[in-house]
Amino acid sequence: MPRLLILGVPASAVARVAALRDGGTELVVMDGKPADGVETIGEVVRADLSDPADCLLTAMRLHERVPLDGVMTLTEWAVPSCAAIAQGLRLRGNTYDTGISLRRKDEMRRRWAAAGLPQPESIAAASCDEAAEAAGRLGFPCVVKPADASASEGVSLVEELAGVPAAYEAAARAARPGRHVLVEEFVRGAEVSVETVVCDARPHVVAVTAKSLGPLPRFVEIGHLVPAPFDSTERDDVVRLTAAAHAALGCRYGVTHTEFKLTDRGPRLIEMAGRPAGDKITTLVRLVYGVELIAAAAAAAIGLFTPPADHAASGAAAIRFVCAAPGRVSRVTGLEEARRLVGVEAVEVSARPGDMVPPLHRSQDRQGYVIATGVTGAQAQARAAAACRLLRIETAAADAWGSET
Ligand SMILES: Nc1ncnc2c1ncn2[C@@H]1O[C@H](COP(=O)(O)OP(=O)(O)OP(=O)(O)O)[C@@H](O)[C@H]1O
Ligand SMILES: [Mg+2]
Repeated sequence: MPRLLILGVPASAVARVAALRDGGTELVVMDGKPADGVETIGEVVRADLSDPADCLLTAMRLHERVPLDGVMTLTEWAVPSCAAIAQGLRLRGNTYDTGISLRRKDEMRRRWAAAGLPQPESIAAASCDEAAEAAGRLGFPCVVKPADASASEGVSLVEELAGVPAAYEAAARAARPGRHVLVEEFVRGAEVSVETVVCDARPHVVAVTAKSLGPLPRFVEIGHLVPAPFDSTERDDVVRLTAAAHAALGCRYGVTHTEFKLTDRGPRLIEMAGRPAGDKITTLVRLVYGVELIAAAAAAAIGLFTPPADHAASGAAAIRFVCAAPGRVSRVTGLEEARRLVGVEAVEVSARPGDMVPPLHRSQDRQGYVIATGVTGAQAQARAAAACRLLRIETAAADAWGSET
């Protein structure tokens, strides 16, 4: 029975990972703070996922006791640690350097620039003054963001020089200590992500996802649609660039999530993540293509991956996030009605009476989601939107964040 080490299993992935165990893979989960239910899927070992040395040492002890056959991660901040283990134990995986470039957007941009790939201009800033100077060079509006955060935390659009200090502060707060902030050219266009399984340095594109964003100046995703509704030339361009983006980072293994803006001058790379997409995109991919990306990542890690046959999408699937008005939640209604609608696959709302709803600044500020399927993308989106309209999260009016009226 193959023995697989998985770094960081979020609560939302426990059932999918348990299915791997049921399919005959022995699992060891490494985590600093294991999510509820993780203990039911296999052995659990503790290590700080953001500390590659700690993770490698812990993995070496495990490997000495009973050899491991593979390693993978489902967690963003464990990407360098996962690579360190793969390299240190000579398992299938990326080098540590590649792990770092998948985690740090400044390093990622440097490698993509060296390979001549199309992307927004990007300047690293180690202080507010440097950020202001970079913004002056790039022009306005520009994007200010942390080099190594996620969930759009600390990412904002800046319209003028006076807006730089607040944007820099927000980005620096979200960045890990000592890490840089990036100031970038603002590229405009529809946004897509490419969900890919990489095995033996060959990227196999499984799906392309279209994204909807919340109001500027933030960039919080409020919906996704699989498959993205664009023409085949655009798709070919994005798929070709995805392969080049992997090669430039030396990314040879894993399930990845590569984000693009489709500008009127062609696709521009925004970033790549060295783990499966979040935001339930893996569920949308399963509903449309029948491909389980977590299982594919596991198969690639233990050498059992067979590329998915080239197949057409079976219909479409959409997720729409529930974003209530800021304030204190007084009542949540409509869940059961929403769940009964045709084509609605899932409705979840995390907000409870008494909770505070913050302004929409990062993914965690959303209150829930609806997933719906349809024959076409438009139908899946319309069904998700109809279910969202039935959900009511009533909040007490607030003049400003935190001060109820
Ligand atoms: N240079 C840019 N031009 C235009 N939009 C950008 C640029 N950089 C970032 N964005 C927007 O901000 C969003 C978040 O940025 P980015 O993906 O770099 O951060 P993140 O925190 O890793 O996001 P997530 O984890 O939500 O994918 C992007 O999906 C995109 O919509
Ligand atoms: Mg992103």
